[in-house]
Amino acid sequence: MSSAELDEFVAQVRERTDICSVISRYVSLNQRGGKYWGLCPFHNEKTPSFSVDAGKGFFYCFGCHTGGNVFKFLSLIENIGYFDAIKLQAERLGIEMPRQKLSPEEERRRREEKILFNANTLAQEFYHECLINTARGEVGRKYFAGRGITPSTIETFKLGFAPDGWDTLLTALTKRGLSAEQLEKVGLVKRRTDNSGFYDRFRSRVMIPINDVFGRTVAFGGRIVVADENSPKYLNSPETALFNKRNLLFGLDKAHLPISSAGFAIVVEGYMDAISLVEAGIKNVVATLGTAFTPEHAKLLLRYARKIIFCYDSDEAGQRATMRALPIVQATGAEVFIVKVPEGKDPDDFIRKHGKVAFDELVKNAEPLVDYRLNYVLATVDYSTVQGKYRALQDILPVVEKVTDPVTRSEYRKKISSALVLEEGVIEDEWRRFLRNHEPPLKIAPKNFYVQIDPLIRSTGETILRMVWNECDLADYVMSTVPLEMLAPVHLEILKWLKACSDAARRPDDLTAANDLSPQAFEELSRILLNRVGEPDKEDTDAFDDAIKVLRRNALRKKYSAILAQAEEYINAGNPAYIEILQESVKVKDELDNL
Ligand code: UTP
Ligand code: MN
Repeated sequence: MSSAELDEFVAQVRERTDICSVISRYVSLNQRGGKYWGLCPFHNEKTPSFSVDAGKGFFYCFGCHTGGNVFKFLSLIENIGYFDAIKLQAERLGIEMPRQKLSPEEERRRREEKILFNANTLAQEFYHECLINTARGEVGRKYFAGRGITPSTIETFKLGFAPDGWDTLLTALTKRGLSAEQLEKVGLVKRRTDNSGFYDRFRSRVMIPINDVFGRTVAFGGRIVVADENSPKYLNSPETALFNKRNLLFGLDKAHLPISSAGFAIVVEGYMDAISLVEAGIKNVVATLGTAFTPEHAKLLLRYARKIIFCYDSDEAGQRATMRALPIVQATGAEVFIVKVPEGKDPDDFIRKHGKVAFDELVKNAEPLVDYRLNYVLATVDYSTVQGKYRALQDILPVVEKVTDPVTRSEYRKKISSALVLEEGVIEDEWRRFLRNHEPPLKIAPKNFYVQIDPLIRSTGETILRMVWNECDLADYVMSTVPLEMLAPVHLEILKWLKACSDAARRPDDLTAANDLSPQAFEELSRILLNRVGEPDKEDTDAFDDAIKVLRRNALRKKYSAILAQAEEYINAGNPAYIEILQESVKVKDELDNL
C-alpha cells in the first residue's frame, strides 16, 4: 500500500465519520450554544466541560484540557494508537483497508493464521453437514428440535453435530489436505497419550461454532446430547492463537447490528440462552463463554451501544460473585442494567415458556446496577440496631456515590431512609460527608503547559489563530506583522502550520492537524476552536486587529525599555554612544505612539 493510498483511505474514513455520533456512543451529549456538551469521559466531573464542535470536527474538555479530533478521541477512550483508532472506525463503517506490504515474519504469521481459520471453517461445514444431511445427525436434529430450535436458527448459527467415532473429523479433513498437526493447533484433535496418532476432540455432541466479530469461526462448544456423568456437559475448544475467551463474546458477529439499532446489548450466560433468544426473535444478544464478564467484553460492546443488560440465571452464590464484577464494567462507561429471570429459570427456559412479549417486558423493567446492588446490601445487612444502621449506610453509600442527579438522588434517599428507618436528613449528612472524604482522583492530570502561557499572550494568540484558521491566507500577513517572538511557542507552531497550509493551498483540517502538530499544539488548537463557535463576525475581525496591535505594542515596549536601560548604562559609564541610542529610542517611541 503506497502512502498516497493510505492518505486516501484515512481521508475517506474521516469524511464518512461524524464526530458527534462516534462520541455519543461513549458520552451523552446535549446541544447548547452551537456546540455539544457532555460529562468528560477522561476525568471525573459533575457538570459538563466536555464540548464537541461537529462542524469543525474537534472536541475539547475545558476541565482537563484534553482535546483533538475524532480519532484522537477514539484512541484515548479505547486505549489504542491513533492509527488503530482510524482502523477501528473504518471497520465500523465497513471501509476496507488497502493491502499492506508485510514483513516476512508477519507474512508467515498470516499464512499460519489462514490455515487455522481454514481448518475451523472446514470443521464447521463438516459438523453442520453431518447435522442436517446425514443419518448420523438424526440424534442432533432431534436434540435441537426438542429444545425448540428450528432449521432456520440452525442455519443462522451453523449449528452442527460431531458423530460418534474417534476419527471421523480427522479422516474427513486430512482428506481435504489438512495435517493432523494443524488440526491439533486449533484444538479439533488431540494427540494420543502413547503418541501413536490423533483422535477427535468432539464426539457425539451437538456443535456450536464460536465466531469472532467478523464471523470467522475460531472455536467450538460441544454439548452432550445424552446425560453422562463421566463427561462434562459442554466441551470447548482450548484457547488457541485464534481463541481467547476474555475478549470474545458468543454471537457478537450476528448481534452487533441489532445492538447498534436497539441501543443496548443483552448479555446471557449460556450458548443455548443466546440461541434460544435469537430463535424467539431477540437478536441483540451475546453470551459469555463460561467466564466472568470482563472490562474487555464491555469495551467490545461499547463499540455498538452504551447500555448493557445482564440477564443471568437465578441468583446463586456464583452469580453474586459475577455481579460483584459489574461495577468494574460500569467503570468502563457502560450503563449497566440487570434482569432477574423469575422462578430461578434461565432465559432459555423463560422465553420458551412465556414467549417474547413477556421477555421484552422483563428487559423493559431491567434494574439499574445501583438499585440492584442497593437491594442486595439491604437484603444482606443486619440493621436492627443503631450501629447496624450506620454500618449498613457505610456499605450503601459507595454504591450510590455516582448518583448526582438531584431527583434520582432524592429517590434513593427516600428508599434508603424507609429501608433502614433512618431520617432522610441523617442520610443526606452522611452522604455529603462520604463524598467529601472520597473525592475521586482525576483520571488525567491537568496539563501544565496550559498554565504556563501568560493570559494576555494566550488570549491574543488565540484570537489571531482562530481568525487565521478561518482565513488561511491571513497567515502571511500575520507572520510579517506580528513580532513572532511575542507569541507563545505553541501558538507559533500552529501559526507556522497554518501558513504551510496556506502555501500549499490546502484547507487546514483536523486530520492534517493531528498529523502535523505536536500533541500540545493539537490540544491547544482544539481549545481555541472550541472556545468560540461559528464563522467570525465583525467583533472577531476587530478583536483580530486589536490582538495584532497588542502584540506589536508589547514588543515595542519591551524594545523601548531595553534601549533606555542600555542608554542609562552608557551614560553611567560616560560612553558618548548614548546619544545615538537615545535617538533610536525616540524612533521607537514614535512608532509606539502611532500604533
Ligand atoms: P449453562 O449450564 O448455564 O449453559 O452454562 P446453557 O447454555 O444454559 O446450557 P444448557 O444447554 O441449557 O443446559 C453456561 C455456560 O458455561 C459454559 C458454557 O459456555 C455454557 O454456555 N459451560 C458450562 C462450560 O463451558 N462447560 C460446562 O460443562 C458447563
Ligand atoms: Mn440452559
